[in-house]
Amino acid sequence: MTLPESLDLKPLTVSRKAQIARDIFYFELRDPGGLPLAPYTAGAHVPVRVPNGAMRQYSLCSDAQHTDHYALAVKRDAAGRGGSISLIDDLAEGDSLMVGEPRNLFELSDKARSFILLAGGIGITPIMAMVRSLQAEGMRPFKVYYFTRDAEGTAFAAELADPELAGQVRIHHDQGDPAKAFDLWKLFEKPVSGAHVYCCGPQGLMDAVRDMTGHWPDNAIHFESFGADTRPHADDQPFEIELAQSGQRLQVGVGQTMLQVLQQAQVMVASSCESGTCGSCKVGLLSGEADHRDQVLLPEERASQVMVCVSRARGERLVLDL
Ligand code: FES
Repeated sequence: MTLPESLDLKPLTVSRKAQIARDIFYFELRDPGGLPLAPYTAGAHVPVRVPNGAMRQYSLCSDAQHTDHYALAVKRDAAGRGGSISLIDDLAEGDSLMVGEPRNLFELSDKARSFILLAGGIGITPIMAMVRSLQAEGMRPFKVYYFTRDAEGTAFAAELADPELAGQVRIHHDQGDPAKAFDLWKLFEKPVSGAHVYCCGPQGLMDAVRDMTGHWPDNAIHFESFGADTRPHADDQPFEIELAQSGQRLQVGVGQTMLQVLQQAQVMVASSCESGTCGSCKVGLLSGEADHRDQVLLPEERASQVMVCVSRARGERLVLDL
């Protein structure tokens, strides 16, 4: 597997590993020589090569003001593809982990005058970094709504019970019963001028927040999912890719990815996660509008690059720099 230059990985040492809730483990990572780590802002994530070799992205939950360490909180997902299991089962304190530089696709807006922060389950990780950042800033009001099944599955409960956060944090347990889900409508019925909404959690939570904020300004609603959008969409259409260097034209059907079609045509493209999170399969986009479904590209990169493992075309054709 070839990683793009932008994904230079460095070894960091696991200085602390602790279980902080049911199936949720906390990892603190430091430079082996004690040097400061690359700076970041709340909401950032880092690419990680987990011990079994797979690439994953994890949000940082640490305080972005302190670059002596990064902290991750990872849920052991028994139904997942093995990345979290490898990280939790195969990594011990003192071990080395290959980690890339932080990137932020979920940044707190300078324009926001207040914040509504929503987390479902392990989606609390970037939200914790935001809480720490906004607490340190001490200027703009914020409220946190954190949805978990029960107390045992609630990470960071002690920190969120800090008296300094009194009145700003609501933790709601639904006991796994949809009838006990929090009523989000009361938060969103009346748009709050200057407020920005940040939501990280399972797809159901994000879909509900998206549905209920249709009357809010688009640029005030921000989402971060745990992984990229790999599910087929009901309105997916077939499209064509043209390879500019060879002139070859290939058809991408519904249910196929560009990466699969390229591999079938013996066109070599690096890949690893095949879920839009590792950054390996970045390809230059020369024309056409992509439907970006990855977690890697920054907004300013999206007109000229595309991750071929998950993204599709908005129109009939994309011309790729291959
Ligand atoms: S293979 Fe990892 S982003 Fe495409």
